[in-house]
Amino acid sequence: MNAARAEAVGGGRGTRFLNWIDARFPFSKLMREHVTEYYASKNFNFWYVFGVLSMVVLVIQLVTGIFLTMSYKPSAAEAFASVEYIMRDVEWGWLIRYMHSTGASAFFIVVYLHMFRGMMYGSYKPPRELLWIIGMLIYVALMAEAFMGYLLPWGQMSYWGAQVIISLFGAVPVVGDALVEWIRGDYFISDITLNRFFALHVIAVPLALVMLVVVHIMALHETGSNNPDGIEIKQHKGPDGVPLDGVAFHPYHTSKDLVAIIVFLAAFSLVVFFAPEMGGFFLEHANFEPANALKTPELIAPVWYFTPFYAILRAVPSKGGGALLMALAIVFLFLLPWLDRCKVRSIRYRGWIFKFALGAFAISFVALGYLGLQKPTAGVELGSRIFTFVYFAFFIFMPIYTRLEKTKPVPERVVFDGGH
Ligand code: HEM
Repeated sequence: MNAARAEAVGGGRGTRFLNWIDARFPFSKLMREHVTEYYASKNFNFWYVFGVLSMVVLVIQLVTGIFLTMSYKPSAAEAFASVEYIMRDVEWGWLIRYMHSTGASAFFIVVYLHMFRGMMYGSYKPPRELLWIIGMLIYVALMAEAFMGYLLPWGQMSYWGAQVIISLFGAVPVVGDALVEWIRGDYFISDITLNRFFALHVIAVPLALVMLVVVHIMALHETGSNNPDGIEIKQHKGPDGVPLDGVAFHPYHTSKDLVAIIVFLAAFSLVVFFAPEMGGFFLEHANFEPANALKTPELIAPVWYFTPFYAILRAVPSKGGGALLMALAIVFLFLLPWLDRCKVRSIRYRGWIFKFALGAFAISFVALGYLGLQKPTAGVELGSRIFTFVYFAFFIFMPIYTRLEKTKPVPERVVFDGGH
């Protein structure tokens, strides 16, 4: 539309500016495709807010991270003191740091709930396998990001946590020892290790994360969102080509998402202002002591979001076996789209076997998380073995039980009466 025409249809200065942009960059087209004319099912529920919340936390982490970097010193001699300096002397430094440390835990809370939603409603099933795989790549990148960030304050747990995890690479056959040395860049965890973790944590991994999130959304908008009924809304379109059960993402879903964002930020603020350490779960007590290569902390336990995998590691007597099982625990998640043979997506219309299996899986994950935080007694070891078995049984037997289960008939159209 040229300027004269814009004038004729009542376009003011704003419209003319938009037209100027649109002639040079597809702004309106992108907004239509991804926002105002992206149709998602009208029956989204509570579980559908965690994708947007993950984005909110990503932004919180990026912004607070940039400000932390302005006063943080990535060197073994200065790192711990620079964090204390941020907490005590830098204006609002304590707030920025607590937002970042709370944000790390919040990230995993929302991402775990986001993934669980995908498992409940079969969002990983065709045609969304790639969307799931990209999500899993985000999850792996997120774990790397959190792990490397945790070394930066250079406290006791930073040091010893990194020591335990890096040494796991020593279990790789033949090249193990060389690999460990290569990762550390030294014969022990040192200034060099801290420096490279800093570089990866502040630029390389965040860049990968942001790019992966963009690709994730592109893949989502290609297939369209799933929904709690697991029905393809694109199969029932009106004469205008709009899915009959879909509503425009903006303003219908954005308004609901806004409520979720406000509730989330309220809860987030409560933690930041009143319980930033969260009883040692979000900031571990041992990390208030500077790193000391000559003194092992009483109990080395990773932050809560890694403890399910840590419990799996400890459940196996050999280090190599434990590390392998830990890696497999994540590999199996990648394979979900191919392990699940059921034709029905949503848990609403699946048989009791899947409901039972998913429930057992969720319980095993939480139980392993709890056990991974405990001192390694015989009871903890036994519990870890039992729940490790349950965790893997969920995946290994999936091709069998998903074929056997009796499903309910799936309705043609989305079931939702809007509360009337
Ligand atoms: C930084 C992390 C992530 C961000 C920002 C993110 C963002 C989003 C957003 C905004 C949506 C659409 C809204 C929604 O359905 O909730 C979505 C959908 C989805 N995401 Fe993620 N995501 C992240 C991580 C993951 C991970 C780790 C997985 C799984 C391994 C995953 C799997 C999916 C799937 C399967 C869908 C489609 C769900 C459906 O339509 O039912 N995402 N994601």
